[in-house]
Amino acid sequence: MRLIQKATALSALLLPGAVAWGSLGHITVAYIATNFVKDTTTTYFQDILRNDTQHYLAGVATWADSIRYTKWGRFSKNFHFIDAKDSPPDYCGVDFERDCKDEGCVVSSIQNYTSQLLDTDLWSWRRGQAAKFVIHFVGDIHQPLHVENVAQGGNGIHVKWDQSEVNLHHVWDTSIAEKMLGGIHRKPYDAGLVWAANLTEQIKSGKYQTASKLWNTGVNLDDPIQTAMGWANESNAVVCTHVFPEGPKSIVGQELAGDYYEKAAPVIELQVAKAGYRLAAWLDLIADRASGTAQPPEEL
Ligand SMILES: *[C@@H]1O[C@H](CO)[C@@H](O)[C@H](O)[C@H]1NC(C)=O
Ligand SMILES: *[C@@H]1O[C@H](CO)[C@@H](O)[C@H](O)[C@H]1NC(C)=O
Ligand SMILES: *[C@@H]1O[C@H](CO)[C@@H](O)[C@H](O)[C@H]1NC(C)=O
Ligand SMILES: *[C@@H]1O[C@H](CO)[C@@H](O)[C@H](O)[C@H]1NC(C)=O
Repeated sequence: MRLIQKATALSALLLPGAVAWGSLGHITVAYIATNFVKDTTTTYFQDILRNDTQHYLAGVATWADSIRYTKWGRFSKNFHFIDAKDSPPDYCGVDFERDCKDEGCVVSSIQNYTSQLLDTDLWSWRRGQAAKFVIHFVGDIHQPLHVENVAQGGNGIHVKWDQSEVNLHHVWDTSIAEKMLGGIHRKPYDAGLVWAANLTEQIKSGKYQTASKLWNTGVNLDDPIQTAMGWANESNAVVCTHVFPEGPKSIVGQELAGDYYEKAAPVIELQVAKAGYRLAAWLDLIADRASGTAQPPEEL
């Protein structure tokens, strides 16, 4: 059993482009959320996830990627994104009816797994699994190319990064964040912990202090679709302003580690900070509701 699990995990790792919103992004989002949740929320999720260390969220943040290419996990492969059929750079925007596939998308999945987390009739292992999906998908939805249809979220567009050939999706998942942190990180948990501490400080008393007060406006546990659509539409707007400022055709083959990177880096930083801060609020709402301490309906 152990061997089989190891083998599947390994084959998932070997698939090119298998890791979405790089591990670093997901882990950092999870550590930021860890820093902002209420104490009662910490206890609630440490219990569900059976881990009483500070790594209880970060340790499961990439689980959804590790199963998506396995036979068992294939059902979840469309849950990581929503293919907004817009027309960057002239028109951006997400439409749930138009863009969410019948098999599901990141928006419907945030709803699906949030409702499973709140369903006390489910076995606790099912709610643990639902928690892992929610933690992951709130990260994914903040990556602009997880909310874009063009070339499968940029996977089909080849560009250059410090002279190496990579696809555009990978640049936004991983390359920009790694360059910001000074290079490729073989220890994403250590790097994520440090980055999260920095962004937590920026939210509490730094450059995001004022703006972050509005980041949870309209967040509503009774309407996960509308809440997640707000997040999706906001990251999709970045596709027009920063991902394809001159349109998809003109980016093909371009070197992106220079000027393009300089403009993209602050956006990545902001999206990671928002994702972590919002994940904390979402987990607070879930834990309050589940433990009956919320005054329903609770809205932020
Ligand atoms: C908690 O999670 C961390 C990160 O995945 C792991 O290293 C640690 O062993 C876990 N602790 C327990 C008690 O499961
Ligand atoms: C909701 O989650 C369950 C359990 O993982 C999954 O089987 C089902 O396909 C999901 N439903 C939708 C509409 O995504
Ligand atoms: C956070 O990172 C920024 C660069 O992204 C740096 O200028 C700043 O000094 C860091 N802050 C802390 C508290 O480490
Ligand atoms: C979605 O984003 C577009 C710009 O990208 C904006 O024009 C539109 O008002 C937004 N829609 C919602 C519902 O927020």
